[in-house]
Amino acid sequence: MARFITIEGGEGAGKSTAQQFLASKLISMGLSVTLTREPGGTPLAEELRQTLLNPHGEVPVEMAELLLLFAARAQHIAEVIKPALDRGEWVICDRFTDATYAYQGGARGMSVEVITQLEKMVQGALQPHQVILLDLPPEVGLERARARGELDRFEREPMAFYERVRSGYLGRVRTMPDRYTVIDASQDLQGVEDQLECVAQGWLAE
Ligand code: TMP
Repeated sequence: MARFITIEGGEGAGKSTAQQFLASKLISMGLSVTLTREPGGTPLAEELRQTLLNPHGEVPVEMAELLLLFAARAQHIAEVIKPALDRGEWVICDRFTDATYAYQGGARGMSVEVITQLEKMVQGALQPHQVILLDLPPEVGLERARARGELDRFEREPMAFYERVRSGYLGRVRTMPDRYTVIDASQDLQGVEDQLECVAQGWLAE
């Protein structure tokens, strides 16, 4: 049965590595998997990603940022996520709307009601079956992100912004615990992969 899984966390939490690891486990169990990411996942949505992450030039106002994220999401859902789920594949997406609640809602302080309205308009009933949250202190994650090279527009935000992102995610975990699997991303890679493996086994046993 098709499943929509999303991976969330602050900067440098190891989302892409976790995504690759989960995909290899699911593929080895004989499942078809689509890997994708947000913002992005289609040519148009990737163009919007460039605009959103560009640290130079005109800075989008908060509402423009939010609408660009949902514009990219609408395109991504229609062109990639829904077709893959309709084909019976598993979709593992690096970030989705939980990131909007954590970054634009929690960290930028935008109205949660507005985000919820856009979520309903753009997604209809589509929600992740499970969200993997790779949780770690922002100073550890930003250190890793800085080691990767030039920082994007979000990575240049102050530490307090990232504390609010983290609290935003953890606040959602408290209100909807069944939706999330929280993994301590400050442990070593083997520890994270062991937990991911258990999670994947659990899905297949369902
Ligand atoms: P990435 O670092 O995971 O590639 O994501 C790009 C940035 O986009 C990251 O700093 C978080 C930000 N973002 C939001 O602010 N809101 C969103 O809804 C999404 C999907 C990403």
